[in-house]
Amino acid sequence: MGSGELQPNTMSSSIQQEMERDRKRVEKNLAVLLNGQKGIPARLKSAMNHSLLSGGKRLRPILVLWTFGALSNSKNVVSAESALNAACAVEMLHTYSLIHDDLPAMDDDVLRRGRPTCHIEFDEATAILAGDGLQALAFTLLAQNGGPAAGPLVQCLGHAVGPAGMVGGQQDDLDSEGQDVDARLVRKIHLNKTAALLAASLQAGAILANASDETVQGLYEAGLQLGLAFQGADDVLDVTGTTEQLGKSAGKDEAADKATWVRIEGLEEARVRTARYGNNGLQGLQNHLPKVPASEHLMALASLMWNRDH
Ligand code: IPE
Ligand code: IPE
Ligand code: MG
Ligand code: MG
Ligand code: MG
Repeated sequence: MGSGELQPNTMSSSIQQEMERDRKRVEKNLAVLLNGQKGIPARLKSAMNHSLLSGGKRLRPILVLWTFGALSNSKNVVSAESALNAACAVEMLHTYSLIHDDLPAMDDDVLRRGRPTCHIEFDEATAILAGDGLQALAFTLLAQNGGPAAGPLVQCLGHAVGPAGMVGGQQDDLDSEGQDVDARLVRKIHLNKTAALLAASLQAGAILANASDETVQGLYEAGLQLGLAFQGADDVLDVTGTTEQLGKSAGKDEAADKATWVRIEGLEEARVRTARYGNNGLQGLQNHLPKVPASEHLMALASLMWNRDH
């Protein structure tokens, strides 16, 4: 339960193995990066470890790595190791967003990735600080390891998680609880709270590979569509999945009267809408990726954004 392993039956076993390999690489590197930091108070470090190294699908860092891989050529300006560190920074930003999302002042959740949420295992103040710590660490790593790509990486990820991105989306998500919302507003919330960081993962991979501005922009836009499909699927799973399967409490969107397409359009229409965004995203990837096997693999990974069971 809550394990990171994804085994969709639509995927070839070699791609599944590649995902599993990269998930493990990311997890190993996350542990090295966090545990190598000196001067962190023990309780804070334990809280950061608890949330960061507790499973999770690791889809965003794998998107960074596979986008980098698909676009890699002799013009690369950074090493594979720098790309891995940037991918891990993205996962730190995502984990920070989850710790804060679960706080009593936000979604008030007790279970995450199959374990007690950070504020339940530790306490609220420690969970707030653990999120803050992961965010600062992520930007430090990007600046340290990005080589000539450091500035653009900090800029694109800072924008993605900032007040006009994830944090802004979270504000609108909370303000919309119990309100009369329409599909357009849900789209805006989902674009900001979720799609921005997911799209920035593709953008970061392309920046690391020194891709053209047109490719970086095209993949970013495809990523926004995939991100809408990702959050659409999350909202569908909140209704159709079990707590066991999800590793987080099911049914909580209805309980909090969250702004979702499921609430305003019903399950079936929300599913159709989600698949439409996903297919738009795949088309965008196809338009901007080179015709190489690594691009096919990235597209197979992208289709998991909405074809998944947890
Ligand atoms: C959950 O993200 C939060 C959303 C943006 C919907 P994930 O479903 O990627 O969570 P983990 O990282 O696998 O736990
Ligand atoms: C979370 O959306 C988006 C974030 C920025 C973390 P949700 O609130 O739906 O995510 P879960 O369902 O708690 O993982
Ligand atoms: Mg939330
Ligand atoms: Mg939540
Ligand atoms: Mg959710």
